[in-house]
Amino acid sequence: MSEVCETTGGFNDRNLPYHVPETTPEVLDDDQKEALYDRIAKLLKEKDAALVAHYYVDADLQILAERTGGYVSDSLDMARFGNESDASTLVVAGVRFMGETAKILNPEKTILMPDLDANCSLDLGCEAEAFGKFCDEHSDRTVVVYANTSAAVKARADWMVTSGSAVDVIKHLHDKGEKILWAPDKYLGDYVQQQTGVDMLIWDGSCIVHESFKGTELEAMKKARPESKILVHPESPPSVIALADFVGSTTGLINYAKESDAKEFIVATDRGIFHKMQQAAPGKVFLEAPTAGNSATCQSCSHCPWMAMNSLTKLAECLEEGTNEVFVEDDIREKAVKSITRLLDFSKAQGHVIYGANDA
Ligand code: 13P
Ligand code: SF4
Repeated sequence: MSEVCETTGGFNDRNLPYHVPETTPEVLDDDQKEALYDRIAKLLKEKDAALVAHYYVDADLQILAERTGGYVSDSLDMARFGNESDASTLVVAGVRFMGETAKILNPEKTILMPDLDANCSLDLGCEAEAFGKFCDEHSDRTVVVYANTSAAVKARADWMVTSGSAVDVIKHLHDKGEKILWAPDKYLGDYVQQQTGVDMLIWDGSCIVHESFKGTELEAMKKARPESKILVHPESPPSVIALADFVGSTTGLINYAKESDAKEFIVATDRGIFHKMQQAAPGKVFLEAPTAGNSATCQSCSHCPWMAMNSLTKLAECLEEGTNEVFVEDDIREKAVKSITRLLDFSKAQGHVIYGANDA
């Protein structure tokens, strides 16, 4: 079983082309936490704001979002909630691309984030200029990008997809005779390619968190707990996906845990999701898939170092001071909204649920 360390560290030993923050979670006693809850709830009311949180952020933020009439979900569903919310300000507790997507879909709203440096290795590993050049070199291909990308990369794309919709969109494009350029996640790209058999040219990006899960150790863990089911997010390596009882998006994994007869699950995704899983499936046991062991390189970790940058104190400060506002330039926004809207229209026409039910 993986060792739980609180500090998200060790990623910088991997010679990555960007710096990964080493984040230590905020430590608060119950009184401090309640005081911050009260202060933030008051500020949200005063500023006509709603708090929208991702499943991967600290449970305290998820609890506060639900207590104050906000929302906790996956990245696209957060954007949908933002769209439907009457609030004039949205505070997005998640990572940068989620704030940008909220702004792209809700340009009239003020979008704030607890920390604007909270990014994503997939976004950082797909810089817009280099990506544009790659697209120019393969202009015969339809450009499909994952939600975890910058607004500028979405602006260069024909389609944006999520992990829950990628297979269906790629099949649809293949049926129309289109060849695909896929970015940025190579593991999700490989998974979609295997599921569909479609000709896909794949960018070399990865999620440093999901990449840390280890197939060999997962197999040993499953042998020791044969009754458990293995749930895997498709950003994980092929050796981990191969062992899965279910592969799906964050919302898909929660729904599977809720509906399955199994009592125990080994989960290969960010451990922040355990809060919602326990709420959705009370009494069931959730275990982290291994990120350490003989085949681990260093301190691997199943918690996203950027998601961990969100804290109650930073949230209170950004609301109080109106700082950390997310802006997207108009010309980029106008192009990016097209690739996002294509997915929304496609899914609606297909009758697919791309949004989480989030009724836990
Ligand atoms: P979702 O789009 O399912 O919320 O996942 C986002 C993410 O960052 C997965 O690592
Ligand atoms: Fe990006 Fe991975 Fe963090 Fe998700 S878990 S936000 S894909 S770095």
